[in-house]
Amino acid sequence: MDINEIKQIPDGVRVLEELAAQCNGSDLGVEDFLVELGNMLGPGARQLVMRLIEERNTTRQKRAGLNEDIVGAEAGLREVMAAVRQVARADAPVLILGETGTGKEVVARALHAHSRRANGPILRVNCGAIPPELIDSELFGHERGSFTGALGTRKGWFERADGGTLFLDEVGELPLAAQVRLLRVLQDGSFQRVGGERSLNVDVRLVAATNRDLRQTVRDGGFREDLWFRIAVFPIPLPPLRERLQDIPALAAHFSLRAAERLGLPPRMPDAADLALLAAYAWPGNIRELASVIERAAILGDGRRLEVSRALGVSSPLGADLSPRVANRPLSSFEDAIRCHIEAALNHCHGRVEGPFGAACLLDLNPHTLRSKMRKLGLEGKRYRAGD
Ligand SMILES: Nc1ncnc2c1ncn2[C@@H]1O[C@H](COP(=O)(O)OP(=O)(O)OP(=O)(O)O)[C@@H](O)[C@H]1O
Ligand SMILES: [Mg+2]
Repeated sequence: MDINEIKQIPDGVRVLEELAAQCNGSDLGVEDFLVELGNMLGPGARQLVMRLIEERNTTRQKRAGLNEDIVGAEAGLREVMAAVRQVARADAPVLILGETGTGKEVVARALHAHSRRANGPILRVNCGAIPPELIDSELFGHERGSFTGALGTRKGWFERADGGTLFLDEVGELPLAAQVRLLRVLQDGSFQRVGGERSLNVDVRLVAATNRDLRQTVRDGGFREDLWFRIAVFPIPLPPLRERLQDIPALAAHFSLRAAERLGLPPRMPDAADLALLAAYAWPGNIRELASVIERAAILGDGRRLEVSRALGVSSPLGADLSPRVANRPLSSFEDAIRCHIEAALNHCHGRVEGPFGAACLLDLNPHTLRSKMRKLGLEGKRYRAGD
């Protein structure tokens, strides 16, 4: 809808201006503003306004696409995502640090998607998985006949990532000899294929990740200090899941929906007791482990419920990790657990309460009941709308 269409509505522009003035400084969301507008302009205009809302949602979804599937981008990962947005536009190397399963690859891909290279390739190389004697040829390519088995000329990862991002995963595993070569590329911006004479230049942004304490590896002599300085220009540490418990309800809901879809079962949300158990566990495998616990819980519950406690029991084979923490930790109050649960559903449904994609449907509640619960808990649906 453009301004000319609004102009055709009797008094359209004046009403718009009046509303905009009222909106200014209030916390009325844009969508509420538009609904108000539709109401004020009468039934003929309402349809037009609905179209505008649709259009707005489509654009918003496209924009939100960058954060797609990054649960907690506005909560436990808020600082991480702020750092991602800040550094993505610069071409500086980024080093992502974090325990296993914390989402290093997810963040590397978000960095690429936010960067000016988003339309170029992003290639991931697992430095720990390449045999040391092949690393040079994998990274920089080789000329035909340069060593036994080099039957043809092969482009290396650097060449293939030209114009895009090269994600060096497990960078701490690179042997020292390969580290020297990598440093040279970062310093001069050029390299040669193994067995080649020609210097090649590529335009590649380097993102590296490690779950090691790389500084300690430097101290121990396993990683070159000069390379560390080069790649750690902008370190982004990812917090372990046990330090962002606020994300657990949303993550559990996300993985439960994914599991239901994959298994062809009706989606089930964890209840308050399940959430308390999930919050009390130490999560050494972080988000990857949570995803598999929820999937296991969905399988065990067979579409009737999520069997979280049984699934968690399997996850801590000795039972030693789980029980003492649960026993020692004060459980959150029933009210807090309900609040968390409703918030997770609202987050998932972008603040929508009613309708087939609303939180009430997901929670199997009457929308009036949910609204009254929300009022009691001081929760406002519009706070959960992405992009407002
Ligand atoms: N914030 C998140 N929202 C949704 N899914 C996530 C999030 N973080 C991680 N995941 C999922 O968890 C799993 C592990 O993430 P990822 O592979 O990025 O972790 P990692 O830190 O690279 O782990 P590793 O060190 O073991 O390689 C993936 O399936 C990923 O999609
Ligand atoms: Mg990884």
